[in-house]
Amino acid sequence: MHMNPIEDKVVMITGASSGIGEATARRLAQQGAKLVLAARRSERLSRLAAQLGGADRVLWDATDVTKPEALQQLAATARERFGHLDVLVNNAGIMPVSLIAQGRVDDWNRMIDVNIKGVLYGIHAVLGAMLERGVGHIINISSVAGLSVGPGGAVYSATKFAVRAISEGLRQECAGKVRVTSICPGLVASELPDSITVPAFRERAQKLFEGAMPADAVADAIVYALTQPEQVAVNEIVVRPLTQSF
Ligand SMILES: NC(=O)c1ccc[n+]([C@@H]2O[C@H](COP(=O)([O-])OP(=O)(O)OC[C@H]3O[C@@H](n4cnc5c(N)ncnc54)[C@H](OP(=O)(O)O)[C@@H]3O)[C@@H](O)[C@H]2O)c1
Repeated sequence: MHMNPIEDKVVMITGASSGIGEATARRLAQQGAKLVLAARRSERLSRLAAQLGGADRVLWDATDVTKPEALQQLAATARERFGHLDVLVNNAGIMPVSLIAQGRVDDWNRMIDVNIKGVLYGIHAVLGAMLERGVGHIINISSVAGLSVGPGGAVYSATKFAVRAISEGLRQECAGKVRVTSICPGLVASELPDSITVPAFRERAQKLFEGAMPADAVADAIVYALTQPEQVAVNEIVVRPLTQSF
């Protein structure tokens, strides 16, 4: 019988405490991956970890992706426990959208810190060891907001365009060694609208998200990227609910 290529792969997922990250953890656990789960809410992570396997298969730690040392520490612990890291899913993100004129400077800074710097810090925590082994896979979650911009979404889109730019640069620099995939999901049912601080935008998003697809749709895209033949790298995936026009 052919072995599932995900079996025993060691996969670190940021933002694993809800939404896309949690769905991905569940899907990859079903396929036999060993998991390294990062997010800030430790009760969520410990509950999820307990459902997905013992300490020999699942490692988790309360980890803020805006703290580079925290990601370094988690990756180091993972390498100690499991020998190496095969895959990083850079998924943690927030979406506090607003008009630029509303001047929500704190929201801009948090988005830039989590969505851009957090992705870079994640890459930094795993890339050296991946290049040394000559094998690895980094999957960055961008968005359809990384392909186009709408009113209220300027800074969020800027962070998601940045994720695509970082992914493409990384792909070029690591060709032959590390696979790089960026995924641009459309509307996905998750807790993301809760991160919106301007009530009118939050209500609008909650309405839009009624047409969202399940987070499993993105987990399945990740499985597709992870299960290609040795010489194949899936670099970009866009996946929307059928009904989404933008
Ligand atoms: N939902 C959509 O429609 C959609 C569409 C396109 C792209 N995306 C992207 O998909 C990714 C996942 O979002 P989601 O939709 O699954 O939303 P979600 O349910 O709100 O999940 C976001 C995750 O990010 C984590 N997170 C936030 N700030 C963090 C920090 N400082 N350090 C560590 N973890 C942090 C959260 O965990 P803690 O709060 O426990 O830290 C949570 O696990 C994001 O990058 C988002 O931009 C979502």
